[in-house]
This record gives sequence, C-alpha cells and structure tokens, in this order.
Amino acid sequence: MSKIAYVGMSADLIHPGHINIVNRAAELGDVIVGLLTDEAIATYKRVPFMSWDQRAAVIGALKGVVRVVPQHTLDYTDNLESNRPDYVIHGDDWKTGVQSQTRQKVIDTLAQWGGELVEVPYTEGISSTKFHNAMKEIGTTPDIRRASLRRMLKAKPLVRFIDLHNALSGLVIEKIGVDTPNGRREFDGMWASSLTDSTAKGKPDIEAVDTSSRMVTLNEVLEVTTKPIIYDGDTGGKPEHFVFTVRTLERLGVSAVIVEDKTGLKKNSLFGTEVEQTLDSIEAFSHKIIMAKQAQQTDDFMVIARLESLIAGYGVDHAIERAKAFLEAGADGIMIHSREKTPDEIFEFCKKYNELPNRKTLVAVPSSYNQVTETELQAQGVNVVIYANQLLRSAYPAMLETARSILTHQRSYECDSRMMPLKEILELIPGGK
Ligand code: SPV
Ligand code: MG
Repeated sequence: MSKIAYVGMSADLIHPGHINIVNRAAELGDVIVGLLTDEAIATYKRVPFMSWDQRAAVIGALKGVVRVVPQHTLDYTDNLESNRPDYVIHGDDWKTGVQSQTRQKVIDTLAQWGGELVEVPYTEGISSTKFHNAMKEIGTTPDIRRASLRRMLKAKPLVRFIDLHNALSGLVIEKIGVDTPNGRREFDGMWASSLTDSTAKGKPDIEAVDTSSRMVTLNEVLEVTTKPIIYDGDTGGKPEHFVFTVRTLERLGVSAVIVEDKTGLKKNSLFGTEVEQTLDSIEAFSHKIIMAKQAQQTDDFMVIARLESLIAGYGVDHAIERAKAFLEAGADGIMIHSREKTPDEIFEFCKKYNELPNRKTLVAVPSSYNQVTETELQAQGVNVVIYANQLLRSAYPAMLETARSILTHQRSYECDSRMMPLKEILELIPGGK
C-alpha cells in the first residue's frame, strides 16, 4: 500500500515554495493537502484572495496531489488523526515563532502511529506575504472588493474598520499593521464617514456635502487601496434618490451602505438630544430599505440599517422593535449607535438582538464608550466595530500645533522634529522620482 504524505497549506497564491513542498511530499507518498479554510487563515492573517473552492481547484491539479481536504484550524491534530499519514511535510521556517507549538503537536500526534515530520528548506526570496504586497500594488477589481466584506464576515467573528477622509488616510488603513504573538493584526477595511468627509471639506455633518462630492473622495481612495469600504449613507435622502446612491456604490465596488432611520435635516448623532433628532417611521424607513435592496444588482452588496433610538433617547426596546422590522424589510444587518460613556445600553441591546430569530450582522461604533475592548464587543455578538473618526481627530490637532509653533517662533525649526522628515514625505508615495 502506498504511503500517505500530508501537507497543510493556505495556497492562496501558489509560488515555487509550495511546488517544492508538494514535490517532496509526492516523492514520499500519495499527497493529501489539508487546505486551510478561510476561517482558519483569518485567525492569523488576512482572508485569502481566492475562496476555498478556488484554492482547492488549483492545488488539487498539482502533480502528486490525490486529495484536498479542509483543515479547519491551524492545529493539525484532527486531520492527522482522521487521515493517519505516514509523513507530514512542511517548510523548516516554523521551528521558531508563532507556529512552533503547532509543529510540536504535529510531531507528538504523528508519534502515536510512527509517522514522521519531514522539513523542507525554506525557499528564500519568495513568500506569500511578499506576493500579497505585490498584489496590493496591482490593485483589485470592484467585484473582488465588493464581495470581500461578506467573505470576511463569514471567516471572522469580528472585523474592524476605521475612518477615511481622503486617499492618504485610505493608504494608512491599507498598510498599517502590528505583529502580535498570534500573527499580523490590521484594519479589515475603511469607513467612509460622513462626519470626517464633511469636516475635511470644511462643512458641517448635515448632508451638506452632496453625494457627488462624497463619491469624489471615495474614488480617490478606491484608486489607491484594495480593502473593503463601508459607506456612511446618512439618512439616504428620499428613497427615490437613495436607489441611485446604492447603484453607484455597488458599481464602484463598495461593500455596504449604512443608512440611518432619521429624517429631516440630519444632525450628527453624537449631539444626541442636544439637537432635534427626528426618527423616520418604521413604515417609511422599511420602504427605503426595500427599495434599496431591490435596486442592487449583485448578491454581495449589503444594506445595513442604523438605529438611532438610543441617540434620540427612546431606549433599548424601541431599538429592538425597529431592528426586527428592518431585518424583515430585508436589511442585511443592523448598526446600533449610542453616545453613552459606558457600553451598558449597547450590551443590553446586544442581548435582546441576539435572541431575534432573523438576527444578522451587528455593527457598533464605540466613539463615546471608548473603554470597551474589541474582545468585549465580540463576546456580546458584535460583528463589525467601526472606529468612526479617530484618524481625522488625530491629524487635525497635529496640524494646529505645527501652525501655532510657526506663528510663535516665526520659523519652522522648532516643530521640525515633530514632523515627518522631508526625505520621507518625498518617498512616502512611490513613483515620484
Ligand atoms: C460618522 O462617522 O459620520 C457617523 C458616526 O455617522 S457618528 O459620527 O458617530 O454619527
Ligand atoms: Mg455620519
């Protein structure tokens, strides 16, 4: 009987390193590839470009591969116990760092039936991380970008978005990441905030910046980024107008619009009841959602209903009644907003929301209750956390400080050390030379 050689991989972008490993495995036996699911990959890096089925089609066609099976966790144990391979083949780059424990477990599990771990020298000069960066340079398509939010929501319990207000802020969101013991942590996507877009244009957040202007900002961001975008649709205006916004967003590759159940002259929610906040009727807003859902052309685009009940002081039960109605009208999710300093009312809402039979994606915006952690929000069932304004709020004070310093000292020398060096700003965006 031929031997079994097991290879675990993500196989999003196949490169010579993968071929090397599969070839070595094929020398040892019939190759079974344990192809990591999107969910498993999302626990330590970005959701792959290709779906599991697409990746399986590619890897399954390689010489020597007899079977592709899903591997649902980074841990190999379940798949090893069910396939009892004679060999596991892996690059030798996992001896230290995040994967070293996984490696030890593989060795221990194989030992139960005398299996062996075979390590292949790491292929230098090529890695999927480098490929991902190269792919980002090439860009994306509206279809891929639009669909990416739904894929992320399937793969991850919580996704994190942050505000954009111009292309440069989009680039920050695209590129910034921190390395953690569990892999790389990044923002999953961008929030096209009405507050920050309006503020950056020197206008109040009252829908005074019209949809065409908002689309100008959006297009500038789309041109230089690949991550999914959730668009702040404010009240959406009249339903007959909102359907055009939906179509435009969808065509551009935006993944979702969030539309709020207020009517009349919109005021920013964080004013709370200091200003008049008029809620639309359940009937009228449901009608708006129905029209928006009918207008969209793809299955990927999401229309998320934003509840302003807590902002307007009507309480949690009022919000739940609306959540129910708007989900029935076809909304793909609910955003619950609050301007309280603590998350108590949000948590109370979450508890009741989770009991709804037609519960869908839940979005929270912890601007005022900012001590809450992502882990706590996730435990309450929140699926999308939006940091709605933090990038603009940090950029503006820095500009004020510099301007003040120059006025005070009548030269820029004193503030120079706080600024990005000239050489770096020149080279921040490649291609300038
Ligand atoms: C925005 O960012 O524009 C929002 C969130 O709508 S809030 O400002 O809190 O209303
Ligand atoms: Mg807004």
